[in-house]
Amino acid sequence: MTSGLYIHVPFCIKKCNYCDFYSLGGSSAVPEEYVDAVIKEIKKYGDVQYKTVYFGGGTPSLLSAKQVEKILSAADVLENAEITLEANPETVTFEKLRGFRAAGVNRISFGVQTANQRSLKTLGRIHSNQKVTEAFENAKAAGFKNISGDVILGLPDYTCKELDDTVELLHSLGATHISSYMLKIEQGTPFAVNTPANIPDDDRMSDFYLYACQRIESLGYKQYEISNFAMDGYQSQHNNIYWKLENYIGVGPSAHSCFNGKRFYYPRDLHSFITNPQTIADGEVDADEYIMLSLRLKSGLNLADLKEKWGRELSPLKIKKLKILENQGYITFENNTVSLTPKGFLIENAISCEIMM
Ligand SMILES: C[S@@+](CC[C@H](N)C(=O)[O-])C[C@H]1O[C@@H](n2cnc3c(N)ncnc32)[C@H](O)[C@@H]1O
Ligand code: SF4
Repeated sequence: MTSGLYIHVPFCIKKCNYCDFYSLGGSSAVPEEYVDAVIKEIKKYGDVQYKTVYFGGGTPSLLSAKQVEKILSAADVLENAEITLEANPETVTFEKLRGFRAAGVNRISFGVQTANQRSLKTLGRIHSNQKVTEAFENAKAAGFKNISGDVILGLPDYTCKELDDTVELLHSLGATHISSYMLKIEQGTPFAVNTPANIPDDDRMSDFYLYACQRIESLGYKQYEISNFAMDGYQSQHNNIYWKLENYIGVGPSAHSCFNGKRFYYPRDLHSFITNPQTIADGEVDADEYIMLSLRLKSGLNLADLKEKWGRELSPLKIKKLKILENQGYITFENNTVSLTPKGFLIENAISCEIMM
């Protein structure tokens, strides 16, 4: 049985003002007892073979290369597996990156967010632009060929120039992949308590999204998902597993799994994960989820697959509505496949509902 493997690393040097991912700020390293707990859990899943591994966070670059190696050797990772590690640019040196590469990591994803120094400060990021440049150069020198950068759109006082500067920086540094997220104000974060002024309203945010899609593609990246763009051959294989509803096992507090059609997760509690790790059942995958996730992908929803895999067929009325959405420029509808345009991605939920209900 093959699967993807997600390892959550719930530690950060400092929490960023916008972030709701489960992690403890004020951490400068990953305790060995956490690594041991992760390994114990991996072993519980028995003889699964992993075609991708993703160290996500939190800040997985706080792991030592030795810890990464220890975790990877506890799992049956297939040769040629894609092994990604998320990194905060501030936390990596050439030696560290060389150690990750030697341990088997072959894809690095840097949290860049913006090339604007003032915005980095507003976001509460600990890194500077200079650090981003150093991190990319060090990653390349350490042998990484597959390097992604995360970008957040629609920051306070955002302009198209800020987006241009950010994606041009990533491109000039040789990024093979860009993830570009619209800023979301998450409950319980400093941004929710003290929301900065001049965050773009929904209309402006949509304009920035459409501008970003066009600008990032003009640099040679192809959009393959709502928020993801890649040079040819560099799509994230691990994230594709999520969107295609294939098997993945997530280990660590807050990590979610989908295995043999069943969903389950570990609660957001580091202590309980270390002392008494238990997963909580979270239902089974269904046709609605298949529709929603397929529509996130540029490859879209094939109606013959929907019928074959889930026994769902669209009524003539729904097909008529899809033709209208096509005429309005929200979707393309060719070869029995519904694929959203950038304008359609902005109303992905509404289009999914149109098909589901
Ligand atoms: C786990 S973090 C990435 C790695 C590392 N922790 C770092 O920040 O450098 C995942 C990414 O999610 C995005 N993100 C997190 N919170 C967000 C929010 N509220 N709105 C938009 N994007 C967000 C950021 O781009 C961030 O880099
Ligand atoms: S964005 Fe990354 S570094 Fe910042 S708090 Fe979230 S996980 Fe930690």
